[in-house]
Amino acid sequence: LSGEYFRYKGILFPVGVYSPESIGIAENAEVQDDDIFIITYPKSGTNWMIEIISLILKDGDPSWIQSVPIWQRSPWCEVIMGAFSLPSLSSPRLMSSHLPIQLFTKAYFNSKAKVIYLGRNPRDVVVSLYHYSKIARQLKDPGTPDQFLQNFLKGEVQFGSWFDHIKGWIRMQGKENFLFITYEELQQDLHSSLQRICQFLGRPLGEEALESVVAHSAFNAMKANAMSNFTLLPTSLLDHRHGAFLRKGVCGDWKNHFTVAQSEAFDRVYREQMRGLPTFPWD
Ligand code: PPS
Repeated sequence: LSGEYFRYKGILFPVGVYSPESIGIAENAEVQDDDIFIITYPKSGTNWMIEIISLILKDGDPSWIQSVPIWQRSPWCEVIMGAFSLPSLSSPRLMSSHLPIQLFTKAYFNSKAKVIYLGRNPRDVVVSLYHYSKIARQLKDPGTPDQFLQNFLKGEVQFGSWFDHIKGWIRMQGKENFLFITYEELQQDLHSSLQRICQFLGRPLGEEALESVVAHSAFNAMKANAMSNFTLLPTSLLDHRHGAFLRKGVCGDWKNHFTVAQSEAFDRVYREQMRGLPTFPWD
């Protein structure tokens, strides 16, 4: 992995993990009506949602999450060797994607396949991504926090602008096969968030099963699960000496990192970009 990026329809992607061909496949793939997609901007809690849905699909039984690596349970759509090229996914297929709406497979929009879009406070996203950029070998060195923040605000990072991503996908709100939920809601009230997710998926769970999902998807439980904590990845992909994939798992860590000037600069861009949109839990 080189830490270099290529541009596809204006959006940056890391070389080696993605290619123009692999994204092209994800843009044009067939979907099945019982497919379930988890869609996020990077570092918004994708893997937490994968763990949650893996448990829901098994009625709270943890044996799947304890025996199969998380990236096999919910393969990524747009990576080289992506989900759509895997013959062995049993239905319902669970898949993950960071693609902005304009690059996501067109077939979804005329199907009954379900998308769960997980949003997160972009201030916490940028902090998480900054730390991850220091250990993920496909990503560019983030440079100074100031430089990185500027690049993030301009959308000059992998998968483009956070603002464009959420503004694109939020247009789907109200559609029957689209659920918008946030990292902050999961943190604040996991139990009722799970009930919303179960209802959306048409898979109501009993109280005992729900409690099992809560317990097994907790940050510390995931951190202790070798199938979910990314320690199975070789150091050529993830530099375990300098940090962990499951880093902190909290809301508001940005307050420990942003200077007053950075926070004000962020707020200016945020207000400008998000004008006219409904408020979010992080507002
Ligand atoms: S990636 O690389 O884009 O797929 O990363 P993603 O999984 O979307 O996001 C990683 C952040 O999610 C945190 N995380 C969790 N938080 C709370 N509870 C659980 N169970 C959990 N699992 C993952 C993870 O720690 C990253 O956030 P930070 O802020 O860096 O800790």
